[in-house]
Amino acid sequence: MNTLTKMALGLLGQLHGRPASGEVLGELALPPARTTGGLALMEALSRRHSEREFRPDALAPEQLSDLLWAAAGINRSEHGGRTAPSALNAQEVDLYVALSQGLYRYEPQRHVLLLVKAEDVRRVTGYQDFVDHAPLDLVYVADHGRMKTVPAAMRESYASVAAGAMAQNVYLCCASAGLATVVRAWFDRQALGQAMGLGPEQQILLTQTVGWPPAASSPGA
Ligand SMILES: Cc1cc2nc3c(=O)[nH]c(=O)nc-3n(C[C@H](O)[C@H](O)[C@H](O)COP(=O)(O)O)c2cc1C
Repeated sequence: MNTLTKMALGLLGQLHGRPASGEVLGELALPPARTTGGLALMEALSRRHSEREFRPDALAPEQLSDLLWAAAGINRSEHGGRTAPSALNAQEVDLYVALSQGLYRYEPQRHVLLLVKAEDVRRVTGYQDFVDHAPLDLVYVADHGRMKTVPAAMRESYASVAAGAMAQNVYLCCASAGLATVVRAWFDRQALGQAMGLGPEQQILLTQTVGWPPAASSPGA
């Protein structure tokens, strides 16, 4: 769907998702994240960039697992420490995962995806048309209910910083894996919040598309 159509539908309150495709599972198991190896850090930084062209091919479960762990995974199991920082360790940013087979929420403790809605909401995650068919759109959502110890005036900015750190982890993971990604703030907040069924304490901060760049070879290609 092109940008103008999305804007018009958004104004009319009619920008919605599509029915999910394939089998919709209440819980999607993920293989363990590969927490060693990959590109050397300085090389990944050298390659980090935004891309806005994606092939529709699905990501491999291992790639999805690595990306989610990079964004929001637990890297210190003794106290539940995460790969990205958060003010007062509030861990207030939830990672939602929009796939063709439904909208899921990443659950870091069990490293699984939990079904939120059996709907393909990818096209609502941004005004740009590539978000509709790229295999993965991430949505970073702050839960203000988890920030009660942070002064109210600071909550949005602290959560945005935390989401930015998570998004940069995804950028570096993509650079290492040869995947394309772009972080995005240009989306219809009202339409997306409704499509996701978010509550009053939840605030969408950022979205991020991930997929194969046009020239890359994907499994089975
Ligand atoms: C907060 C933020 C919001 C952004 N929003 C969008 C967006 O809505 N759409 C988009 O295509 N790119 C978006 N970008 C990506 C920037 O355009 C991109 O990072 C910038 O052009 C620099 O390019 P580079 O990432 O390749 O270095 C956003 C970046 C940031 C940090």
